[in-house]
Amino acid sequence: MFQKDKLTRKAKKEGYEARSAYKLIEINQKFKIIKPNSRVLDIGCWPGSWLQVSSKIAKEVVGVDIKQTKINLPNVKTHVLDINSDEVFKLGTFDSIISDVAPNTSGKIEIDQYKSYELSSRAFEIAKRLLKPNGNFLVKIFQGEESNILLNQMKKRFRTVKVTKPKASKKTSKEVYFVGLGFNPSSKPSKHSFDSSSVEQED
Ligand SMILES: C[S@@+](CC[C@H](N)C(=O)[O-])C[C@H]1O[C@@H](n2cnc3c(N)ncnc32)[C@H](O)[C@@H]1O
Repeated sequence: MFQKDKLTRKAKKEGYEARSAYKLIEINQKFKIIKPNSRVLDIGCWPGSWLQVSSKIAKEVVGVDIKQTKINLPNVKTHVLDINSDEVFKLGTFDSIISDVAPNTSGKIEIDQYKSYELSSRAFEIAKRLLKPNGNFLVKIFQGEESNILLNQMKKRFRTVKVTKPKASKKTSKEVYFVGLGFNPSSKPSKHSFDSSSVEQED
């Protein structure tokens, strides 16, 4: 509780729309998912703290969410869009795709985990279509029975795959983040990309 209050206050003081900003800052410092001069897609971008963080690093940031954000930054463009719509495939190609997409929680843990798995898997489908070769992917998932399915699929398409839980994420939350570095666009993984995959589980 103290941590949440502290980060929420910090976010307000520093002008971020949400405390989630510190999750992306921490993950990006560690894995360098977003690079300077790059084009980034932010999936599930409302209220916009990840847009704010990405816009300081990347050249251009595109955000999609079913809700309209109030973010007004020169290098950020947002679209009100359900990611299940094929309109999402018209957004162009990206160097990095980051997804914090999450369902409205019902309080029933198995249902929330499954909905999170469906949304995160859709984010991965989008990444497979829109990521440039060697691009990077970050996706949140509520850890549950199905999350290893997504993790194993990612291992076939990225040079390196990691699992991380930033300090800014509440310990009681089931959320973890999968990081895919070095996208391989071919449907069959090369021996090299498969052999060099690694998964690091963190607390
Ligand atoms: C945890 S919030 C994202 C917070 C954001 N990263 C930030 O830092 O401000 C998750 C978002 O996923 C969005 N979302 C859920 N289902 C979606 C869908 N089918 N299409 C697009 N966005 C969706 C929700 O509207 C919500 O804004």
